[in-house]
Amino acid sequence: MADARLIIASNRLPFTVVDSNGRLELKASAGGLVTGLSAYLDSLQHSAFTNLVEYVWLGWPGASIDDEHKDGIKEVAATRFNAYPVFVQEETMEAFYHGFCNKTIWPLFHYFPSYVVYESESWESYREVNQYFCDAIMEVLRPSDILWIHDYHLMLLPRMIRQSMPDVPIGFFLHIPFPSFELFRLLPKKWAAGILEGLLGADLIGFHTHDYTQYFLRSVLRILGIEANMGQMFVDGRMVQADTFPMGIDFHRFNDAVVSKETEMERERLKNTLSDFKTIISVDRLDYSKGVLNRLEGFELFLKDNPQWHKKVVLLLVIVPSRIGVDRYQTIKTQIDQMVGNINGRFGTFNWMPIIYKYGHVPFHQLVALYNMSDVALITPLRDGMNLVSKEYVASRKDATGVLILSELAGASKELVEAVLINPNDRGEIAIAIKNALEMPLEEQKSRIEKMQSRLKKYDVVKWATDFIDELKDVKEGQSRFRTR
Ligand code: G6P
Repeated sequence: MADARLIIASNRLPFTVVDSNGRLELKASAGGLVTGLSAYLDSLQHSAFTNLVEYVWLGWPGASIDDEHKDGIKEVAATRFNAYPVFVQEETMEAFYHGFCNKTIWPLFHYFPSYVVYESESWESYREVNQYFCDAIMEVLRPSDILWIHDYHLMLLPRMIRQSMPDVPIGFFLHIPFPSFELFRLLPKKWAAGILEGLLGADLIGFHTHDYTQYFLRSVLRILGIEANMGQMFVDGRMVQADTFPMGIDFHRFNDAVVSKETEMERERLKNTLSDFKTIISVDRLDYSKGVLNRLEGFELFLKDNPQWHKKVVLLLVIVPSRIGVDRYQTIKTQIDQMVGNINGRFGTFNWMPIIYKYGHVPFHQLVALYNMSDVALITPLRDGMNLVSKEYVASRKDATGVLILSELAGASKELVEAVLINPNDRGEIAIAIKNALEMPLEEQKSRIEKMQSRLKKYDVVKWATDFIDELKDVKEGQSRFRTR
């Protein structure tokens, strides 16, 4: 495969087009998928070990674009990002992205069944947008390419491509949890079967944890009657593999940035306000699945039970705006605002507020400075496919001090076993974990962080993607051996 190019398809591109007073601007996108893939694609440019140096990234530009601006966006996308925008009309995107993706799949796959909306129109737009992606991909895809499709927005796409180009290697990676069969079966049968058949159009289907892989295989068996042996299934005479690939981070980007001038400046600036306190960092995209309310309740209980810590500790709460077009996200934002206000009003004094709250994007070096200065990271999702923030915090602890408190319901808890693991539904456990973390002896902090760092260094994002692509090639080779026999 000397001239194989890597074609990436994901709903979100590394940039998002925003309208700023009538002028279109490109802003960096947020979220684990974009951060991780960008780091991998950058590394390809500098690697001597792969022939996959050329890539094209297809995705939605983040807004509906007028015809007159499409060519301009296409050109900037290609020259600055190697990207190929898939333009979708506003109403269709609304029903797809704010509808089926984020009102049906997202809450169901994150174990919020009571939040799930079942609307046949939004299922139709899900199919329609997957078809748009298929059409756009067919404009660029060559038989010698490798296609890697990402995440829950595009689960019908592998099969659509397979029907148009039967032999091209197709990989699919799911960045969110795959739920247990009991949850998945809540979907109308036609949708559930459509999603599984869509995914099985790929040659390799990857998940963050062993559990998600098993849940997927169970659903394939119960709904489609297809059995698997060691993750291998035969689908229309073709071998398909499901496997586990826990996504890593660009460890050195964070670790090295700690000593950069920019981070140093940020740290100095932050020290002016924070040097008198121990600090606890908490960073998330706005989402009900992130368990921010539970976290705040746990922190409140900690303050109530530990007056000796008053005026000595500050929680730095960063919430990155996300999906504000979905009602549930508006609601959770209001609830967070209120709870922060209540806690600060209840415990704050004129010279100390227990919570410093920032709702907005935080630039990279400021984020690293925050991670690096914070004695504790408090990460308590109710469900999370992986959670890369926990890994970023560990990587940013250059001197190996610091304590990570992590929910056992995040995929990352399977690897970061030296974290202080908590059940996010147990406020009492969160409160005790905060106290223990703040009082943990340095020796113990170091021994925990060092173990986690060595694991994150070894299995970083480049290793994750390389493993996936290598296994995809192996599966493809296995299929041709099977055919020639
Ligand atoms: C999660 C999903 C990604 C998504 C990101 C940001 O990490 O797995 O696919 O891109 O959230 O969400 P957004 O809706 O802004 O793309």
